Amino acid sequence: MSIDTSTGSAMPNSVAGEAVAELDGIRMSFGGNVVLDDVRLPVHPGFTGLIGPNGAGKTTCLNVISGYLRPDQGDVRIGGRSVVGRSAHQIAKLGVSRTFQTPRLIPDLSAVENVMVGAGRHFRGGHLAELFGLPTARHDERRLRGLARELLTTFGLGEHPERAASQFPIGSQKIIEVARGLLNEPRLLLLDEPAAGLGAEDVDRLVTGLTSWATGRDAAVLIIEHDLELITRLCPNVAVLHFGRIIQSGAPRDVLRDPVVVEAYLGADFATGD
Ligand SMILES: Nc1ncnc2c1ncn2[C@@H]1O[C@H](COP(=O)(O)OP(=O)(O)O)[C@@H](O)[C@H]1O
Ligand SMILES: [Mg+2]
Repeated sequence: MSIDTSTGSAMPNSVAGEAVAELDGIRMSFGGNVVLDDVRLPVHPGFTGLIGPNGAGKTTCLNVISGYLRPDQGDVRIGGRSVVGRSAHQIAKLGVSRTFQTPRLIPDLSAVENVMVGAGRHFRGGHLAELFGLPTARHDERRLRGLARELLTTFGLGEHPERAASQFPIGSQKIIEVARGLLNEPRLLLLDEPAAGLGAEDVDRLVTGLTSWATGRDAAVLIIEHDLELITRLCPNVAVLHFGRIIQSGAPRDVLRDPVVVEAYLGADFATGD
């Protein structure tokens, strides 16, 4: 897989083939129902897509990588180290950020403050009281507010940073959540259907913002998404999950033409919402 960098800067940590994160032989079941079966998925610097029909096990993959679920079998490696058995909190501290299928913003806080919440692991305890209260945190608060505003601008939402999150349309709320996931300079960003429910304009904001953020960085972004055009625009590599197994991976234009993949989508009740 080639990593697209528009700058010519050396990327000493992204030796070809070195994965930022890796699922290796993952098996996961819920009460005897096998949901992931021998899943192998390397996530390299740049964008990786994870697609597949509803119920295929995509969100479960994210939950396993981020420590929300412990797999029955197999290894999860981040930066080459096994993290199976670590808590979601411990894994987040390794530089892993995620978003959820439905945005989890704090409705009464402003857009910029919601992004600042993403600083959790840079604060002792990571509580909002510390973020906004203690004198020792004031310098950090100013710095973070600046970073959060920059991120909102990167995603085309810099105009009303002080507006309450609940006042933004749902599409913008989802983008604010993505921006929050970036505040900590994650090494690995996990996005669960970030474009679901977004209009074309918001999809463009998302793609432009993510591309601009990733340029010149060494981070890896794993995106679950039904919007195959978005996947094709962003991801040099995509893996297809079907009934808990990776059935194909490679460049989107090849993968999406593969008869096995087409069959998997047509055979399932594939509700894309678009
Ligand atoms: N916590 C859970 N308990 C029981 N079953 C679950 C749980 N999470 C997911 N599942 C089941 O696992 C399967 C895969 O779910 P999921 O990973 O959410 O799929 P996707 O994100 O691809 O739509 C589904 O059949 C779902 O019902
Ligand atoms: Mg899901």
